[in-house]
Amino acid sequence: MSGHTRIKTKVAILISGRGSNMRTLIQAANDPAYPAEIIGVFSNRADAAGLDHAKQQGIQTAVISHKDFDSREAFCEALDSTLEAWGTELICLAGYMRIHSDAFAQKWVGKMLNIHPSLLPSFKGLNPQQQALDAGVRISGATVHEVTPELDAGRPVLHGVVPVLDSDDAERLGARILKVEHQIYPIALKQYIENSGNNDVAAADKAQFIWPQ
Ligand code: GRF
Repeated sequence: MSGHTRIKTKVAILISGRGSNMRTLIQAANDPAYPAEIIGVFSNRADAAGLDHAKQQGIQTAVISHKDFDSREAFCEALDSTLEAWGTELICLAGYMRIHSDAFAQKWVGKMLNIHPSLLPSFKGLNPQQQALDAGVRISGATVHEVTPELDAGRPVLHGVVPVLDSDDAERLGARILKVEHQIYPIALKQYIENSGNNDVAAADKAQFIWPQ
């Protein structure tokens, strides 16, 4: 079957802010040969800048504020209903700043990816760029990983590597990492879709790391 006629995986993107990684995924998915279709963008914040871009691209959006719910569980149930109504098959978190309920995370295990600005399993959680500087490491980068109930602990799918320079502060290092994030997320999503349900070990091993020249 040609790349133009095969069925694309239906991907929803979850954001909370700027949405620059979301943009790269939308752009990649505009290629008819790309294996994913971005079917919706969800934000827990109405002021997330990425929402406007998604709308301009003709992608449906939904906003549900976590502040309108008494519990994490109730919020995640509302989120889940939205994703199900869209026919979501795979979720990409892209700067989404909410921790999931266990039930939500369990339900989507193997069907949810995130991007994190460190070489996981190092420097989980908040301010990973500063954590890398404080640790004195000489390389850092970004990781696309599977999402599990434990924060930033799922299997890495793809790493992008950058040097850490003596002159770096968290902002400069973060900007260098963000560039590599934009390179690896579309590649990781493509590889993940193409390798899922595929017992070909050689194909799965294609997911390694990227060190931009
Ligand atoms: C990125 O650094 C991502 O790795 C982290 O949050 C940031 C989101 O940036 N999870 P953007 O909204 O994609 O521009």
